[in-house]
Order: sequence, then C-alpha cells, then structure tokens
Amino acid sequence: MNEVNQRDIVVGLDIGTTKVCAIVGKKTPEGQIKIIGIGQTPSKGLRKGVVINIDEAVLSIKRAVAYAERMSGVKIDSVWTGIAGGHIRSYNSSGVVAIKNMEVSESDIRRVIDAAKAVAIPPDKEIIHIIPQEFIVDDQSGIKDPRGMNGTRLEVKVHIVTGSVTNVQNIIKCCNRSGLKVKNIVLQPIASSHSILLPEEKDLGVGLIDIGGGTTDVAVFASNAIKHTSVLAIGGDHVTNDIAIGLRTPFKEAEEIKKKHGCALSELVPEDEIIDIPGIGDRKSRQIPKKLLSEIIEPRMEEIYSLVREDLEKRNLTPLLAGGIVITGGSALMSGALELAERHFELPVRLGKPQGIIGLKDAVDNPMYATGVGLVIYGFTKEEEEEDLNLEVGKGRDDDSLFSVILKKMKSWVKEMF
Ligand SMILES: Nc1ncnc2c1ncn2[C@@H]1O[C@H](COP(=O)(O)OP(=O)(O)OP(=O)(O)O)[C@@H](O)[C@H]1O
Ligand SMILES: [Mg+2]
Repeated sequence: MNEVNQRDIVVGLDIGTTKVCAIVGKKTPEGQIKIIGIGQTPSKGLRKGVVINIDEAVLSIKRAVAYAERMSGVKIDSVWTGIAGGHIRSYNSSGVVAIKNMEVSESDIRRVIDAAKAVAIPPDKEIIHIIPQEFIVDDQSGIKDPRGMNGTRLEVKVHIVTGSVTNVQNIIKCCNRSGLKVKNIVLQPIASSHSILLPEEKDLGVGLIDIGGGTTDVAVFASNAIKHTSVLAIGGDHVTNDIAIGLRTPFKEAEEIKKKHGCALSELVPEDEIIDIPGIGDRKSRQIPKKLLSEIIEPRMEEIYSLVREDLEKRNLTPLLAGGIVITGGSALMSGALELAERHFELPVRLGKPQGIIGLKDAVDNPMYATGVGLVIYGFTKEEEEEDLNLEVGKGRDDDSLFSVILKKMKSWVKEMF
C-alpha cells in the first residue's frame, strides 16, 4: 500500500449523520486533484450532526477508511475532517488599530486580528475558523493583503466560527481512536463551498444550502469573501420521520419510499398517480396516492427553507444573493426540492454536485459528496498554505498557529493575484 507518495495525498473524512465517507485525493503532476478512492458506510453514533456515541462512530469511521484504503491502495493515516451541529456559532467582527510606522507590518496585522477576535467567546466554545474578509487601510477598503501599504489606520473584518469544545474534542477523539491524525477540522458548509460553488458565484453573491440527514448547513459568499455560515439542526431525517408517522411504517421503509417516490412540491404530482407501500411482516402491501406522500413531505421541506430564509433575512443577506442559491447534500436530490426552493426564495436555484476534480468523478457525482470532496479540495489548498495543524485531543489550537495560518492565507492570495 505504499507505492503512492503520501505527500501528494489528501483524505477528506466526512462524518455525517447518515453516512461516513472517506475520499482519497491525489495531486497529479499537472496540479489537478484526482479522486482515487472512496469508502462509505452508514453512520452510527451521530445525531443531528454531533457525535453522541464514540465507540459506534469509531466503528463507522474505521470501516469507511478501510474501504477507501482498499480502493485507493493508499494507507490512510491522517484526514481532514468536518464539523457541524447546532452548537456552531458564527459572527462577523472587526478590529481597528493605528499603524505603527506608517507602513503595515505583520505585527500590525497581528494586533488588528487580535482586536477583531476580542469578542466575548464563552469558555465552553473554541474558535474553529477566523477568516479575514477584507482589510481597510485609511479609506481604502477591499484589501486582501495590506502588508507594506502606507497609512495610519488599519481595520480588518473577519468571519469567526466557534464550536463547543466537547464536540470538537469528540470528533478528534473519534479519529484518533480510529488510528487517524486530524490535519484540521473544517466547518462542513465551508468544506462544501470548495467543491460546489463557482468563483463567479462567490463574486456575485451566492447562498449555499447543504441539506443532509441531520443538519442543514448554510454559507453565504459575496465579493469573493465569506459573509455568513450557520448550521440548522434539521434535515432529511425529519422528512423520513414524518413519512414514518404519516404512513405508519418503520423508519427504514419510510426512507426507501421517500427516496423512490418522494416529491417536495405536491403540485408537481398528478392527482391519479398511485404508489405501492410494501407490506412489513405479514401485513399486506398497500396502495396510496403519490400526492398524499408529497403532502407529508412538502411542509417539512418548506420548514427547512423557511428556517434558512429567516436566518438570512435576520442578517440582511438576501439582497446580496445576485448569483442565486445552490442546494446540495443528499436531500437536495429529492424531486421538487429545487422548484420548491425557487418558489420559496424567489431566486434562481441550481443543484450543486462536486466539481473541480478528475479521476473517480462519476463515483462522487452526487450532492451527498459535497462535504467529502470539499474537504479534499480544502485540504490540498491549505496544505500548500501549511494550515495542517495535526490536532490532538486536549491540545487546543493556539493563537500563534491561527495567526500563521492567516498570514499564509494572505501569501496565497498574493500568489493568486499575480
Ligand atoms: N433520492 C433522494 N431523495 C430524497 N432524499 C434523499 C435521496 N437520496 C438521499 N436522500 C436523503 O439525503 C440525506 C442524507 O444526505 P447526506 O448524505 O448529505 O447527509 P449526511 O452528510 O450524512 O448528514 P449531515 O450532513 O446532516 O450530518 C438522507 O436524509 C437521505 O434520505
Ligand atoms: Mg453532510
């Protein structure tokens, strides 16, 4: 299993509520990202995006990783993994300092980011990301890298994502116990944005909605900067539950029926279409109108979109979305999900599938793999910026490591500009 040079390999481990998947990416000599393996298994031990049983989660992770190893022929010892759940909070913050010697130095940048970070973070939360959105030197805004610029006043706007310390530690623990090092933890919608959103969309203004099993993850970009992220603890599992109750059938059957016949917009279903509900045990199979199923699904999908809309409107973000909305995640596959979203948001909506990769493209050509493939792309970008922190249980990220990450990120922006 050692023929492949490990330095060219990045593994994304998406620990989702319904599935765990490990995706192996390899950098080609031409600089493209080639998917060379994927391992997937139903997820155990998670609820609403959060680990609730470490032993069960470890078993799922080990299994997914073993499949991915077999398929790729690579021994996997470290991963980039995601985080989500209702404990995630994100804010925009800003800081201002006086520039010391009339020319912006790294120490000025450190001070200004410290100032922006000085929002009260409760002791049970830790910072997962600090992403600079722009720097402002005197009256000049929209600066990505202010080093060396002349001025007297330096301001920074940042997006800060925090998560509960225990939830972060549990993810690291699950990986470590599965024999894996964690290169870094990435907020799931940020990972998904890397595989799903186009640069033009991020520039124009776009909302990404990743509707999974247990959570719905949101990210908003405009003017090439991240404006907002959030995680709502509702997803496709809630739809399945409603079907299970509405049709008096077990969850597993309800899930099958949903995937096979479900439609999020009942208006699209003809009045006379009938579907078969298979009998369980000695119960006979039943026939029901497909419209009835759709009438169970639609209100829940509406609720999901309403919560996203409220979340965006509360922050006045809707006017930014000139590039529309992109829906992804397994639940975006539901027929009518796109049409319902268009109606709900009154914006153009497209279905997002992973892009920007070669190799086993067909195997991951599904919105379910938005986060997994996104983690691979994110990992490659950040390894170039040396953002892999090798996290361990009980060892927090210190300020210095975060700061060096931000500096390196700026260096890569500069590289992009020339
Ligand atoms: N064809 C389909 N039609 C409707 N729903 C579907 C379809 N395929 C998958 N789903 C739903 O997608 C959900 C799983 O999506 P996904 O794999 O993105 O979630 P996850 O990453 O495991 O969970 P999360 O991100 O919420 O932690 C399940 O609720 C499943 O029922
Ligand atoms: Mg997911």
